[in-house]
Amino acid sequence: MIQPLSVVPGFDLWPGLLSPQAQAELVAAVFEAAQAAPFAHYATAYGKAMSVGMTSFGPLGWTSDASGYRYADRQPATGRPWPAMPPALLDLWTELGDPDTPPDSGLINLYRGDARMGPHQDRDEADPRFPVLSISLGDTAVFRIGGTSRKDPTRSLKLSSGDVCRLSGPARLAFHGVDRILAGSSSLVPDGGRINLTLRRARPA
Ligand code: SIN
Ligand code: FE2
Repeated sequence: MIQPLSVVPGFDLWPGLLSPQAQAELVAAVFEAAQAAPFAHYATAYGKAMSVGMTSFGPLGWTSDASGYRYADRQPATGRPWPAMPPALLDLWTELGDPDTPPDSGLINLYRGDARMGPHQDRDEADPRFPVLSISLGDTAVFRIGGTSRKDPTRSLKLSSGDVCRLSGPARLAFHGVDRILAGSSSLVPDGGRINLTLRRARPA
């Protein structure tokens, strides 16, 4: 395994970790999953629909509506379970996430057009000792990461297709978001755009 770049303490980046073939296989797995669990633009607690389309792999999917954010074992729209986590993602988590406790949620974010994600913390998981692993596919994202307070200074960096990053330790609860997508920077995603996968352990081990 190549050594990651430590961008800020606890935020590690493996540029281009995934081969073009591995990237294409994950994109195919995402669109297959979306047949069974269509992308949705969830409402935030403030009532506004998110610009990012979301669905999930694994036993639990992250969802949002007017009553708040949560992990659910059924798709809100259909009442059906989420599609299974692809083995390649389980393997990546074993290597870079946690060797003993599997992830129970793989959030799939689809950015098209002007989609973006405002600064937020990932704090709906029971145990922040487990990291969040993030995989970028398709168009490059202008990503921003700060500290554990909204007022902390932030850094901007580009995440390109095949990059993998990890939020753990002092960066596990860091504010982060996506300012914009560089449309047309990759041709990996059919009809364009960016897919981001985040692997998490939502329930206690
Ligand atoms: C997220 O914070 O859920 C997504 C981050 C990203 O798209 O890179
Ligand atoms: Fe996040």
